[in-house]
Amino acid sequence: MLYPAPAVLVSCGDNPDNFNLITIAWAGNICTSPAMTYISIRPSRYSYAIIKKTREFVINLTTNKLAFATDFCGVTSGRKINKFERLNLTPAKASKVSAPLIEQSPVNIECRVSEIFHLGSHDMFIAKVLSIHADERYIDKKGALHLEWSDPICFSHGKYYTLGKQVGYFGFSIKKKGKKKGH
Ligand SMILES: Cc1cc2nc3c(=O)[nH]c(=O)nc-3n(C[C@H](O)[C@H](O)[C@H](O)COP(=O)(O)O)c2cc1C
Repeated sequence: MLYPAPAVLVSCGDNPDNFNLITIAWAGNICTSPAMTYISIRPSRYSYAIIKKTREFVINLTTNKLAFATDFCGVTSGRKINKFERLNLTPAKASKVSAPLIEQSPVNIECRVSEIFHLGSHDMFIAKVLSIHADERYIDKKGALHLEWSDPICFSHGKYYTLGKQVGYFGFSIKKKGKKKGH
């Protein structure tokens, strides 16, 4: 019941013959320093064995434009098809891991697995973030990332959504009236 959840495309594999994509909603930030994240995967997934063996994966953030691919990678298995080819997605070389980045994704997060917890239906892969790539189109002149420009999507109770309107910003609840943000 913890929704909305992310809907990310996780890429895995260590050579073009076994490159694969899996859609993951059970994913999240778990530590700032060192930067760490997790994904939870059912052992029955084709990607599970790949990630267990290579201990590497890339989290690729998704957008409105990638919504079809996000769903498709969550309802088809890499055992039967090459999802990169079928979806015309471009596997790009990562800097620290052998798993590919999705070039069309606005942000790619390279990860190395540090621990695997067998929880029940899913195994939780806890991973260190080794490198992050952000598409320059979403970075302003001051170097700040505007992920909202990419039209990101999330997943809630079986449906995909884009973001709604902004209703606040970090710390706005204690901002003194009359003073501008940043003063
Ligand atoms: C929106 C969405 C979220 C999903 N989240 C997860 C998840 O967190 N963990 C998981 O094991 N499977 C999840 N799945 C299912 C897998 O993506 C799906 O079984 C996929 O076909 C596995 O691909 P593979 O066999 O090529 O690895 C999700 C599917 C969708 C559509």
